[in-house]
Amino acid sequence: MISSLTSDSIAEYDGAELTLEIRKARMDDIAPLLRLINDYAAKGIMLPRTEFEMSENIRDFSVIYSGTDLVGCGALHFYSPVIGEVRSLAVDPKWKSHGIGRRMVEALVDEARLFSLDAVFAFTYVADFFSKMGFQEVERGELPLKVWKDCLRCPKFQCCDEIAMVQILRPDHWQPGMGQQPDAFEGSILLPILRS
Ligand SMILES: CC(C)(COP(=O)(O)OP(=O)(O)OC[C@H]1O[C@@H](n2cnc3c(N)ncnc32)[C@H](O)[C@@H]1OP(=O)(O)O)[C@@H](O)C(=O)NCCC(=O)NCCS
Repeated sequence: MISSLTSDSIAEYDGAELTLEIRKARMDDIAPLLRLINDYAAKGIMLPRTEFEMSENIRDFSVIYSGTDLVGCGALHFYSPVIGEVRSLAVDPKWKSHGIGRRMVEALVDEARLFSLDAVFAFTYVADFFSKMGFQEVERGELPLKVWKDCLRCPKFQCCDEIAMVQILRPDHWQPGMGQQPDAFEGSILLPILRS
């Protein structure tokens, strides 16, 4: 069952090998998740989240713990039967550059595959990081309109400088049927990529 998906891995930190627990989030993760995300939000790096929003969307979230410390998080949010967004990706500043971000994106992409999504996308300031994770840049205007509902409450709505990135998970699945499913994307994110 995906909601109890869990796996362990090892990370090196300060010369010591520590066991990491990677799993879907639970309600008792909300307080540490809010601390991690809202510390970055205060610096304008991420969108702020409230306890209410976290409760509503907790099933989107995955977490990585080292012992009792939350060291990273991320979410997979579905937009249509074929596409989802990787969002709320954050690594505790003390744990940056230890492979936590990579492991989280890999877990979210695995989850997307389990749900048979054809593609995942992200809005981000760290395009080089997402490139390393197998994403490629696309025009923001190519994303489904639904995506913009989050943007409406963003302080940078009028001057957004985030980069839209996409990873196609099932290119073969889409190529032949694209023209027959015009509603699938509400603005078709994949057409320009698959044609190139
Ligand atoms: C971006 C972030 C998630 C990366 O997490 P991390 O755990 O430090 O990254 P990793 O150690 O897993 O790095 C994986 C690879 O990406 C590279 N990388 C990491 N951060 C990078 C960045 N900001 N720019 C370019 N490359 C980056 C690493 O060098 C590494 O490359 P390698 O595999 O060739 O060695 C983390 O820095 C973070 O939480 N940033 C603040 C919040 C944020 O910007 N979130 C993204 C919102 S969409």
